[in-house]
Amino acid sequence: MTDVRNVDRTAEALLHQLWQIGWDADSVGRPWHTYRTWTSARREWPIENRTRKVHLRVAYDGDRPVGWAEARLPLLDNLHLAMLDVFVHPEDQRRGHGSALLVALSDILREEGRTTALLEVAAPVAAASGPLLFARAQGFAVAQQDEMKVADLRETASSWAPLLASTEAVAVGYQLLTWSGACPDHLVDAYCELASRFIAEIPLGDLAMEPEVWDRARLRENEERQRLAGRSDVTTIVLGPDGTGVGYTEMMVAEERPDLAYQGATIVLPGHRGHRLGQRLKATNHLAFTRAHPGARNVITGNASENVHMNAINDQLGFRVVERCLEMQRTTVGL
Ligand SMILES: CC(C)(COP(=O)(O)OP(=O)(O)OC[C@H]1O[C@@H](n2cnc3c(N)ncnc32)[C@H](O)[C@@H]1OP(=O)(O)O)[C@@H](O)C(=O)NCCC(=O)NCCS
Repeated sequence: MTDVRNVDRTAEALLHQLWQIGWDADSVGRPWHTYRTWTSARREWPIENRTRKVHLRVAYDGDRPVGWAEARLPLLDNLHLAMLDVFVHPEDQRRGHGSALLVALSDILREEGRTTALLEVAAPVAAASGPLLFARAQGFAVAQQDEMKVADLRETASSWAPLLASTEAVAVGYQLLTWSGACPDHLVDAYCELASRFIAEIPLGDLAMEPEVWDRARLRENEERQRLAGRSDVTTIVLGPDGTGVGYTEMMVAEERPDLAYQGATIVLPGHRGHRLGQRLKATNHLAFTRAHPGARNVITGNASENVHMNAINDQLGFRVVERCLEMQRTTVGL
């Protein structure tokens, strides 16, 4: 019998137990998992912020925590959405704890007026997985599918300079600028405009997502959260001939897992495509990132299979597919 309870998010010993359960559940058999670090969990869980509200629940079997689930509710945009995570310790799976946690979250979503729930699940390239079958059993359907890809930064480093040389002529008139950590003041507006366009420019499949709204305050809060969580990022922006922002790309790494970098968003606005800016942005950022973080051995990214141009760029950078990430979606109507 599962007992689902609220979590005191200042109780660090319990938070650590939950974090460890999630690590054990998410990492088993998955060398390229991107489960959050303990520093991130310890520092971010207790903090409320203006951009999203978090509901955290723990499942007990008797006195023993066996799983946890979280609902993240965006507060500045996408007010219909809830992003969920559910983890049950491998030794306690298939006993109904995951389902009980989802029922508890569903009650919260109803109270909060959120009508669409999203759950990301990992699966091998050509097979189902326990989490995928679990999500299906809970009424979630695949709304979008990303291929997760990894590039070895040392083995592929020799390709970046030739890529930059070969893209130079066609990118004439564009200026690339790179920074680590906080965005320079004079680039904040350009960055926020591009970040606000990102969701509208990627293939969403059936995902019911709306563009995010980024402004200076949100950006600075996000940077502060990254710093607190022990993550460092390197960003390259490209400015057009008139000085406005036309694209950017970003990579990050957690201090507790310095060997595995994560490739974040990449965007080039439609009017500026065809100048090989995507390749230039990513090669430039790979170079800057590896100089700043020489311990990073691999980088992982995820792209929709139908994102032809992004996939072509990633192929050139030596990315190879390692697993799938399925974006599962369920409308809470009728639960
Ligand atoms: C996904 C997860 C949370 C499920 O937790 P759980 O407590 O085992 O889930 P339940 O016992 O409530 O399973 C409910 C139903 O889902 C399906 N299901 C769950 N795990 C399954 C598996 N490994 N294989 C096939 N079906 C499965 C079954 O229909 C199951 O009912 P049944 O046992 O009566 O057949 C757990 O496997 C886990 O922590 N996985 C790793 C983390 C993860 O990927 N989380 C999801 C993304 S956030």
